[in-house]
Amino acid sequence: MATETADDVLSVHDLKSYFFSREGTLRAIDGLSFNLKAGKVLGIAGESGCGKSVTAQSILRILPRHGKTVSGQVLLTRDGKVTDLLALGEESSEIRRIRGKEIAMIFQEPMTSFSPVHTIGDQIIETIRLHRGLSKAQARASAIEILESVGMPHPSRTIDEYPFNLSGGMRQRAMIAMALSCNPRVLIADEPTTAVDVTIQAQVLELIRQMQAQLGMAVIMITHDLGVIAELADHVLIMYLGRGVEFGSVEQIFHNPKHPYTRGLLASIPKLQKGHTLVEPIKGAVPNPYDAPAGCPFHPRCPQFMQGTCEVTMPQVVEVEPGHWVACHLYGGEDQR
Ligand SMILES: Nc1ncnc2c1ncn2[C@@H]1O[C@H](COP(=O)(O)OP(=O)(O)O)[C@@H](O)[C@H]1O
Ligand code: SF4
Ligand SMILES: [Mg+2]
Repeated sequence: MATETADDVLSVHDLKSYFFSREGTLRAIDGLSFNLKAGKVLGIAGESGCGKSVTAQSILRILPRHGKTVSGQVLLTRDGKVTDLLALGEESSEIRRIRGKEIAMIFQEPMTSFSPVHTIGDQIIETIRLHRGLSKAQARASAIEILESVGMPHPSRTIDEYPFNLSGGMRQRAMIAMALSCNPRVLIADEPTTAVDVTIQAQVLELIRQMQAQLGMAVIMITHDLGVIAELADHVLIMYLGRGVEFGSVEQIFHNPKHPYTRGLLASIPKLQKGHTLVEPIKGAVPNPYDAPAGCPFHPRCPQFMQGTCEVTMPQVVEVEPGHWVACHLYGGEDQR
């Protein structure tokens, strides 16, 4: 989905990542393509289990052992040089350097970013020294500066705290500080505000927005919450069962959604209409991914299902207006998979 242009910083082509177990092969990502533009925010949305986290893990080559990226390309462009991250060894020095320095990641649960036995300062300082080659004193000064910039209270004191001594909101800030400490080209944020309360959520999103504008990073904002996407994103990718079903600008997705799944997601956002909260959930549940439906994967739940077509062939991706891509038979095009 999406046309390639010179300002793409990351471009993912026909990515397939599977998990192998006794129950069979789980096709967590099954032919996903999208582009991320330098300095822009791409929101990735979809219900739980549709492959958002596995997409992030595949890009950074941090899939669990029983998972494998079986095909595709993940092209990172820096200073005109293109590197296919999937061609690098999972433990190669180049991918290690890229993780953190070029592409940083923040998670729902900050404790996964930190070791419990070191202070947050030690961990941020180590990251800075590893990637920027500063002396210990310089790295400490830089870490305090970054903690201050993410709104950490009393940074010169907090820097010596252990993660478990910080509140949830402060840990979130410390994790963002660590991610930003090397001025990454790309930040991948996987549900960064799902586990925190609404006030902290607003603060964290505002912080990501400010940092993105100041540092000119590109951001992949992964969330099941379309409200977050509406606030932050320039472009949106909607995923279903390991595939992209719709891609467009935030205006196209929110004002002119085409795919029945996208429309369903939008209709299920609580909205106030004449004082009443009207929510229309999508019927049914995400199917068992070990046993994905034939044809269009959304067909068992789709209100616009067309017998004889939708359960038979996989819809092809079609550009319905410039920069707006949809995979649905309502818009023509099919292939025989
Ligand atoms: N470590 C894992 N082992 C086996 N299956 C996994 C693992 N992580 C994710 N999956 C499966 O891959 C699919 C995509 O999961 P995930 O990317 O975590 O979804 P999301 O982040 O969109 O909620 C799901 O079917 C999930 O059950
Ligand atoms: S291809 Fe058919 S089943 Fe799939 S979303 Fe479009 S109309 Fe619905
Ligand atoms: Mg997830």
